[in-house]
Amino acid sequence: MNQIQGIKGVKDVLPDESGAWQYIQQKARDIFHTFGYSEIIIPVIEFTELFSRSIGETTDIVEKEMYTFDDRDGKKITLRPEGTASVVRAYIEHNLRETAPFSKLYYIGPMFRRERPQAGRYRQFYQIGAEVFGIGHYMIDAEIISMLNLLFDSLNIKGVELQINSIGCPQCRPAFREALKGFFADKTSELCDNCKRRFEFNPLRILDCKSTHCHALSEKAPKTVDYLCNDCLSHFNGVQESLKTAGVPYINNPKLVRGLDYYTQTTFEFTGGTLGAQNAVAAGGRYDNLVAELGGPSTPAVGFSIGMERLSSLFDNSNVTKQSPSVFIVALGEQAQQQAFSIIVQLHKEGISTVMDYNGGSLKSQMRKADKLNSAQVIIIGEDELSKGIVVLRDMQSKAQIDVPVAEVVNRLRK
Ligand code: HAM
Repeated sequence: MNQIQGIKGVKDVLPDESGAWQYIQQKARDIFHTFGYSEIIIPVIEFTELFSRSIGETTDIVEKEMYTFDDRDGKKITLRPEGTASVVRAYIEHNLRETAPFSKLYYIGPMFRRERPQAGRYRQFYQIGAEVFGIGHYMIDAEIISMLNLLFDSLNIKGVELQINSIGCPQCRPAFREALKGFFADKTSELCDNCKRRFEFNPLRILDCKSTHCHALSEKAPKTVDYLCNDCLSHFNGVQESLKTAGVPYINNPKLVRGLDYYTQTTFEFTGGTLGAQNAVAAGGRYDNLVAELGGPSTPAVGFSIGMERLSSLFDNSNVTKQSPSVFIVALGEQAQQQAFSIIVQLHKEGISTVMDYNGGSLKSQMRKADKLNSAQVIIIGEDELSKGIVVLRDMQSKAQIDVPVAEVVNRLRK
């Protein structure tokens, strides 16, 4: 029979790694709760228009990377390539602005982008994201960045570096756009094909191009910060001062424009030294116009998302305790198995993690399995024990064994 393989760029998270994922996600939840965030669970599918309108028609994600299909009623549906647009949609649809003065929301889940798979880049990947609605003050930008920094510290993530920038607002960005077009005007023939198009529709994105040639060409390009209006400049200065107060080190990266169109003012990325080409482990920024652009009331907003696979690859999981059963039951023969089964039923009801190998086998082979699974205690039931109405309880660490009457074994293990 032909073996069916998983889809390219789609990763299985095996038990070896899933413990680390759970640990990381629990840490994130705990820290987010400390900062006053609540979880929002958003759908995996949305109308395509939500993403094209928010992320931007001329972005790589919308142009080339979305998994889109026609629903049976002809409507276009897309597997979400990111979470922000859905959170904004839900914020508007459920009138969250009316129920709270501001909203701090977080989400964890899979996203889908049909990118070229490579190390750290998947077609299905998980994000842990957080978004704040209703606060325009620069301090919340610094707070959300320091929350991310705290999470990385608490996970002992080494070598990540915070880069920040401000890309201004609709008032000051047109002047910057023009300055950029002026700068690249006599260099268009040297740009990659993608950037030739970007020059027309989205010249800011040239600064973000991964091609080494375009990268070199943009070395002396105008800087966003030199074109900021007074409001945007004082916001950006405020973010930097507050990051200093919070003790979060950062680097100014004037080329950090981000690959999604909804950003205004602050943009930021945490990049990790060992991640290779796909080195952004988390990224985000302010997007003060998106709620209004999607039909809601004008609401300032800021947020970020972490790439779960990339964070996990930076995380040292050797200290995460592996799941192992407290008890392994070794039963020798059909009758002993019957006895064992009634014990295991009770142990499970008591919440005591217990396994047994119903395939049976010799004492030696079953003990080997108990050892391999790292179980703390083993219950052994053979013919002898059956006839005496007892079980043998073995402590796997001390290797001490005692006889325990069948009727008492659950009680004893409960203690
Ligand atoms: P993004 O930069 O597209 O931003 O993605 C955020 C993070 O998701 C990246 O830094 C990376 O760690 C991870 N990521 C993205 N694409 C892939 C992929 N193909 N494979 C593995 N990991 C990936 C956003 O998605 C925005 N929604 C962030 C945001 C939230 N801005 C404001 N609020």
